[in-house]
Amino acid sequence: MENNLIPNHIAIIMDGNRRWAKEKGYPTQMGHKKGAEVLESTIKYCNEKGIKYLTVYAFSTENWRRTEDEIGTIMILFEKYLDKFIEISDLENIKLRVLGNVEELPEKIKEKIAKMYEKTQNNTGLNFNIAFNYGGRDEIVKATKKIAQNVLDKKIKIEDITEDIISNNLYTYGQEDPDLVIRTSGELRISNFLPWQIAYSEFLFLDKYWPEFTNDDIDNAIKVYSNRHRRKGK
Ligand code: FPP
Repeated sequence: MENNLIPNHIAIIMDGNRRWAKEKGYPTQMGHKKGAEVLESTIKYCNEKGIKYLTVYAFSTENWRRTEDEIGTIMILFEKYLDKFIEISDLENIKLRVLGNVEELPEKIKEKIAKMYEKTQNNTGLNFNIAFNYGGRDEIVKATKKIAQNVLDKKIKIEDITEDIISNNLYTYGQEDPDLVIRTSGELRISNFLPWQIAYSEFLFLDKYWPEFTNDDIDNAIKVYSNRHRRKGK
């Protein structure tokens, strides 16, 4: 019973890296660098707490509109952290998945993602999803095309299409939906993050920038979630 009160799946919109850097008088890249460090500690802590899934929004399909310099910084960080995630996952039994259009990413990154799948697919601890080059509507369009193709190929009939079939054609196939979505930086939007999967999720909006996020914020988020569920049960 007590375990039902802990979210199985936490999804996080890590927002506010640039504003944090700006307020401190640092260059933008410092904000992303600190953000990546906070993410590393968040992954380890969620695993320690026995959370089953952690999904974070690291790069959206809209983020290509940022300056070449900034995109370059995020790509370099991502590449560096892919190596780190593989290392951590080995030590801590974490299973990794990238949600998003991987095909469009630079060759070196694609190779690292393939290596990461190979190395972590049998792990049984935290499932860590990193949404990178991700857009929620784009994900639904891709799923629709796959399902339509299956109908054309006569693998399924139109009347066989169910919510489960749609779920199983998303990047998150086979996984549980988020119980709790956290967004930092005081913005009250979803920004095309997991629109199908968060239909029944609880939301928590925090008035601090992502680089300021700590393990105490996770403890607190779990508490808030538990309390909401306790009330619901009454
Ligand atoms: C949101 O802050 C953050 C991002 C768009 C990038 C997220 C990236 C990281 C946490 C670091 C990279 C880590 C990896 C592993 C790729 P923002 O830049 O939108 O800040 P703002 O809202 O203040 O403009």
